Amino acid sequence: MLDKLMNLREEVKERLNSADSIQSIMDTKVEYLGKKGKLTDILKEMGKLSAEERPKMGKVANEIRDYLEGSIEEKMTELKEAEKQATIEKEYLDVTIPKKQKDIGHLHPLAETKRQLEDLFLSMGFKVLDGPEIETVENNFDLLNSPLDHPSRDMSDTFYMDKDHVLRSHTSPVQIRAMKEYGAPLKMISAGRTFRNDEVDDTHSPMFHQIEGLVVDKNISIANLKSTIKTVLIELFGQELDTRFRPHYFPFTEPSFEVDVTCTNCGGKGCEKCNGTGWSMELLGCGMVHPNVLRNCGIDPEVYTGFAFGMGLDRLVMVKHDINNLRLLFDNDKRFLDQF
Ligand code: PHE
Repeated sequence: MLDKLMNLREEVKERLNSADSIQSIMDTKVEYLGKKGKLTDILKEMGKLSAEERPKMGKVANEIRDYLEGSIEEKMTELKEAEKQATIEKEYLDVTIPKKQKDIGHLHPLAETKRQLEDLFLSMGFKVLDGPEIETVENNFDLLNSPLDHPSRDMSDTFYMDKDHVLRSHTSPVQIRAMKEYGAPLKMISAGRTFRNDEVDDTHSPMFHQIEGLVVDKNISIANLKSTIKTVLIELFGQELDTRFRPHYFPFTEPSFEVDVTCTNCGGKGCEKCNGTGWSMELLGCGMVHPNVLRNCGIDPEVYTGFAFGMGLDRLVMVKHDINNLRLLFDNDKRFLDQF
C-alpha cells in the first residue's frame, strides 16, 4: 500500500509537470482526489490493514493527500497567472501611437455663405423662399417687365427648354412667385442656381448662383434699400468696408443701381487687382421695384413701393475668400476645398 501511495504521488507529479492548461489540472484533481478518485480507492483498502499498521498508513496517506492538494493548487495558480500575462500581452495597447486621421467634411464655401446670408436675413424678418430652376418665360421675363426685344431674352443668351420655359437666367422670378402668393407687405430672399449661355472663363460659367431679395411695403424708399444693402455687405466683409452705388438699368427696377465695395486687397487705395480704382468689381444689382412689376403681381403701386436686389453668390464668395478663378468653386477639387 505504501508503494501504491508513493506511485500515486509520482504520477501526479508528472501529470502536473506536463500540464499546460487549467482544464487538464482540473481533470487531474478529479481523477486523483475526487470521490471516485484513485486516492479514495487506495484508502478504501485501509480496512484490510492490521490495527497497528492502520494509524501509520493513515498518517502517510494524509501527508500524501496534503501534498497532492498543495501541488495541484500551486500549479493551478501558476497557470492562471501565465494565462493572465498572455492576455495582457495580446491585448496590449500602445496609447502613444497617433490615431488614424478621419477626414471630417465641411460645408462648401458657397453653401456656407448662402447659409450665413439666409441667417442674417431671417434675423431681419425676411422669409427664405425657393423657386424652380426651370421657370416660365412669363415669370423669368414678361412679368419682370422685360420687353420682348431685351437682349437677355435672346436664344443665344438664355437656355430655352421650349418656347414657354427657360432655365432661369436670374433669381428674380422668385420675387414674382412670392408677390403672387403672399401679396404685400412682403420681405423675402431666395438663393439658388441660375443659368446663362456663357463660355466658361475665370469669371463666367453657364451655371452660377444668385441671391435675390425683395421688400414691399408702404413708404419704402431708396434709404431703406441703401441701409439694407450696407448692413448685409458689412456683415459679409467687415466694418471698414465702404459701398458705392452707380446708376444702372434693369427692366424690373426704376431707378436701378449697381453696387461696388471697397477693394478687399488694397482697402481702397488702388492696386492692380482693382485696376487702380479702389473698388471691387460690381457685386450686386438693385433698385426700386418698377410699378409695372408690382401691378403685374396684383399689388397697387399707388399704395405700395418696394426695393429689390440680386447678387452673384459666387462672386461674393470669390471676393470674400480672395479666389481668382470661378471654376475652382465647381471643380470639387479636394485640395482646393480643404482650405476652407
Ligand atoms: N436680376 C438681376 C441680374 O441678374 C439682378 C437684380 C435683381 C437687379 C433685383 C435688380 C433687382 O443681374
